[in-house]
Amino acid sequence: RADDGYRLWLKYDLIGDAGQRTQYRAATQFIASTTNDVVVKTAVAELQRGLQGLLGQPIPVVAKAPAGTKRGILLSVDPSANVSGSSTSKDGYRIAAEGKNLVVTGKSGSGVLYGVFALLRQLQTGQSISALSLSSSPRIQYRLLNHWDNPNGTVERGYAGSSIWKWYELPQQLDPRYTDYARANASIGVNGVAINNVNASARYLTAEYIQKVKALAGVMRPYGIRVYLSVFWAAPKVIGGLKTSDPLDAQVKQWWAAKADEIYKEIPNFGGFLVKANSEGEPGPQDYGRNHADGANMLATALGTHDGIVMWRAFVYKAGSSDRFKQAYEEFKPLDGQFSPKVLVQVKNGPIDFQAREPFHPLFGAMPKTPLVLEVQITQEYLGFASHLVYLAPLFKECLDADTQTKGPGSTVAKVVDGSLDQHRISGIAGVANIGSDRNWTGHPMGQANWYAFGRLAWDYNLTAAAIATEWTKMTLTREPKAVATIVSMMDKSRDIYVRYTTPMGLHHIMGQNIHYGPEPWLAEAGRPDWTAVYYHKADSAGLGFNRTATGSNALALYSPGVQKQWGDTKTCPLDYLLWFHHVGWKQPLPTGRTLWSELVTRYYTGADSVTWMQQQWASAKAAVDPTLHADITARLAIQRREALWWRDACVLYFQTYAKQPIPAPFTPPT
Ligand code: GCU
Repeated sequence: RADDGYRLWLKYDLIGDAGQRTQYRAATQFIASTTNDVVVKTAVAELQRGLQGLLGQPIPVVAKAPAGTKRGILLSVDPSANVSGSSTSKDGYRIAAEGKNLVVTGKSGSGVLYGVFALLRQLQTGQSISALSLSSSPRIQYRLLNHWDNPNGTVERGYAGSSIWKWYELPQQLDPRYTDYARANASIGVNGVAINNVNASARYLTAEYIQKVKALAGVMRPYGIRVYLSVFWAAPKVIGGLKTSDPLDAQVKQWWAAKADEIYKEIPNFGGFLVKANSEGEPGPQDYGRNHADGANMLATALGTHDGIVMWRAFVYKAGSSDRFKQAYEEFKPLDGQFSPKVLVQVKNGPIDFQAREPFHPLFGAMPKTPLVLEVQITQEYLGFASHLVYLAPLFKECLDADTQTKGPGSTVAKVVDGSLDQHRISGIAGVANIGSDRNWTGHPMGQANWYAFGRLAWDYNLTAAAIATEWTKMTLTREPKAVATIVSMMDKSRDIYVRYTTPMGLHHIMGQNIHYGPEPWLAEAGRPDWTAVYYHKADSAGLGFNRTATGSNALALYSPGVQKQWGDTKTCPLDYLLWFHHVGWKQPLPTGRTLWSELVTRYYTGADSVTWMQQQWASAKAAVDPTLHADITARLAIQRREALWWRDACVLYFQTYAKQPIPAPFTPPT
């Protein structure tokens, strides 16, 4: 049958290699489990389903491993099991041969479920399972998807149809898709879901909606997933009938505490609140002269003894600032040490807004007393929506691996986020979901890989982007070795290619206004300077780029001295970040041997040409991939090529009006 993409990476199709199938069959003749834990039951059902599909035979579930020669899989929970990685996580698992059987031990029910998915992944990717020995534990505790979904079914920055949550049908009707969604998330270790837009509607906190949220939470719970809500700061006024939403007002405090109790009464494993306040027009504590800590701590107090957290977003900026780059730092850094223990501050990977490439956010490493959640964007708001193939693991990794140097070399963003650098008890990571009602979930079929990669990196940021792409490709597209290698290499390079034909060398925020699609570097009027493009690229007759050194906005001073030193000098600043920090002369020679102008043009042209290379690579894998899926991606690559030319020509011609230089060979257009 034609592959419509619905089954994601959990296809469980019969393994083609008969020899391998026989080996797997011999080792999986039964599943033994006695626990009544609801998540372990999910694990049993998933294992049974997976093995049945992959091996083409039913697998009995028994209470106890039978004596004799039959080999099978034992599932067990052992909170004190010794698993590698984090010692505090309850999500770890171990898979080991014991006698003739394989034992999957989880530190909790969730651990067993994660172990089962890891075992199935071995089969799906064709690894040996005899003498298997795997042990793993997530480094980050709260691994969340953030949905920017609205009550009316639209999805902010969503490019895969409408919301998968059908609010008007809930709570009575539970679309089976919710379960498939939970399975997919559990399979990659995601354990939390904030189900609604950070530009939140107060409606979600009404008794009517709490029932709907409860219904969804009930679907997620057997998969080890907790539900969280984004909250509208002014809810006490809007739905509570109070005159104020001042966090220090006694009635307001009481309202939130009662609301938290009401939610936990219905949803005992509710995860907590996600808050966007005093940002982009959203209300917040600053409306009453209070600060972010006042607001976040009030909500933390409202959660009381319930097992929940507050994720308070640091994505803030205002009109009239000298450099938007610095705003979150200026507002949040002084509050370090003032947040209550249940609060995590959620910081986007970069200082502006999910651009195709940003330096890491200067808050990482700068708030040692506060656990920071890393927020990345899986939906491709600035990365070509669902038309461009851009594999995002390299982007996520670039941020996680970045060295803040705040506690000496090796103080990576990853170590800030997992809490190890500053010994935090809680840690979190969030990905803005790219999921919608489209049959294939993500619009672009390859967008599934970004959802997958987010989960895998949230679990273990040491995995390489290529290793994750290989797993995903084998499970989703093909196991034919040459095609796998071709597709993985194309994926691995795709983000760099996108950067080259859109915003090379540190250009940023030059995309179409509001829609955030296509080029608009000439945008000079947008209500506010920091919403224009010219504010960011600062092209003039002398050169290009935003001077953020001491002679400019000095945003560079927000970083540790080692980082400042490297990025502050045009000779040592990586070319990928050059125009983020420097206004560079058009004729300035660069380490590549070209002038800035010539390098810029080279990147735009080679970037656009690389899309043709991607088209060729994809075409060469045709025989190995489902024809429907292959045709879908072929068509999207054709759009990508067309739009890469659009970006290239728009930007090169626009910047040429300042550079006043010819297009260098070999890119000189025919006369
Ligand atoms: C971006 C995005 C908005 C979103 C905001 C946020 O600015 O364009 O749609 O609301 O980020 O993260 O809060």
